[in-house]
Amino acid sequence: MRAVLVANPKGGAGKTTLATNLAGHFANQGKKVTLCDLDRQQSALRWMAFRDPEMAAVTGYFGGNQVVLNMPREADWVVLDAPAGLQGYKLSDYLREADRVVVPLVPSIFDMAATEDFLNSIRNEMRSRRGRVGIVAMRVDPRTKAATMLEEFLKHFDIPIVAYLRNTQNYVNAAAGGATIFDPPRAKHRRDVEQWEPLLRWLEK
Ligand SMILES: Nc1ncnc2c1ncn2[C@@H]1O[C@H](COP(=O)(O)OP(=O)(O)O)[C@@H](O)[C@H]1O
Ligand SMILES: [Mg+2]
Repeated sequence: MRAVLVANPKGGAGKTTLATNLAGHFANQGKKVTLCDLDRQQSALRWMAFRDPEMAAVTGYFGGNQVVLNMPREADWVVLDAPAGLQGYKLSDYLREADRVVVPLVPSIFDMAATEDFLNSIRNEMRSRRGRVGIVAMRVDPRTKAATMLEEFLKHFDIPIVAYLRNTQNYVNAAAGGATIFDPPRAKHRRDVEQWEPLLRWLEK
């Protein structure tokens, strides 16, 4: 079993979008995947409830009220969808369980400011596990001023950007049907799937 924690203290950063799409990717690869929803709002589980039983299977459960996180060891991949405001002992707990930490980050001054302390905490806690934390630049085109601003900001933390995902309704529309960009109709999502490749390679490393 390998576990990926998707976390950022800011609401709306794209955690649930990343977590559900990651689960969709692994499911479409024929992997046994479990979504562990750590957020009281349970958006990931709500998404799962919309999922067509004909689609590649994703199982899930609510882990947000567990004192000690109970991981499904029989799964190939566990994707942990963290709540906004995650910090302190809960953050440490979740970091301990995770093989990889993915932090979606929107290049806006509000999002970057709200994420600064968090990035410092995980950098300290993951010191002995360098290379396990990656940023996903969310809703951004890599050739823009916004992308440069994000790269400048991240230099302070020594955490790599492992993917740039564009701003597109494809994520919104797929989610509405319990689907992901990795589910059919695939032709429609080709450009987005391509953008995930560096992230997926980094996760498999
Ligand atoms: N790359 C993207 N392009 C367009 N909309 C996005 C993208 N990523 C996320 N969204 C939308 O932004 C909103 C917040 O994303 P969400 O994944 O729920 O964030 P979080 O779980 O961090 O609160 C959702 O409506 C989602 O559909
Ligand atoms: Mg969420």
